Amino acid sequence: MSDARWHEIDSFIQTKLLNPDDVLADVLAANEAAGLPSIDVSPAQGRLLTILVRMMGARRILEIGTLGGYSTICLARGAGAEGHVVTLEYNPQHAAVARRNFARAGLEDRITLHEGAALDLLEGLAPPPASFDFVFIDADKANNRHYLDWARKLTRRGGVIVCDNVVRAGKVLDAQTADPAIIGTRDVYDALSGAQDLTSTVIQTVGSKGWDGFAIALVE
Ligand code: SAH
Ligand code: DHB
Ligand code: MG
Repeated sequence: MSDARWHEIDSFIQTKLLNPDDVLADVLAANEAAGLPSIDVSPAQGRLLTILVRMMGARRILEIGTLGGYSTICLARGAGAEGHVVTLEYNPQHAAVARRNFARAGLEDRITLHEGAALDLLEGLAPPPASFDFVFIDADKANNRHYLDWARKLTRRGGVIVCDNVVRAGKVLDAQTADPAIIGTRDVYDALSGAQDLTSTVIQTVGSKGWDGFAIALVE
């Protein structure tokens, strides 16, 4: 489901509220030139990530699913000069493009990209419990339950976990689905609703990326 006006309004928001941004424009151009899928967060959503991170004063950030690093750059900007983003990416081509984009953004020092399957990387890196202020989950949806388990372990009290793509044009309602990505999306709700230590909500979104949503969970 989508509506031409959703795109128009996203363009309107971008024109009115998001200053011309050569870095992010170059990132999208580089991603397209390299044939990456255009499934980055939208500009308005990227700004939301920056604002959330700044609001909380988050410094230590984990991202699962880098693609070309559009969202990573938004997170790193929010984290400020003292902040650091660890981002995990499975696809070597995506990782290579992302590294170039981080250099273009002048943010290499603030971002560490690890290449590999996120669950293997998390196991291998074994980050200490509560070592992150903010976690953004945006990789293969089938593994969302595992990513949330990790995020709960790794996020400090008062920290925030955000998970992208939790509405999927309404497909999340299909309890009979055989699609592993939708099952994984439904798992997010089960994991959040069963967690005593999380206060959670979902914001539905429409726009240039269609109809979807962000889960946002505060760690108590
Ligand atoms: N966060 C990005 C978009 C990420 S798209 C942005 O908004 O700009 C999802 C990414 O997750 C893709 O690049 C895909 O290659 C990666 N991915 C898929 N499975 C993965 C896995 N098991 N481990 C790590 N990354 C994975
Ligand atoms: C897809 C993945 C995403 O992370 C996203 O934001 C939009 C679409 C996808 O795999 O189709
Ligand atoms: Mg996404």
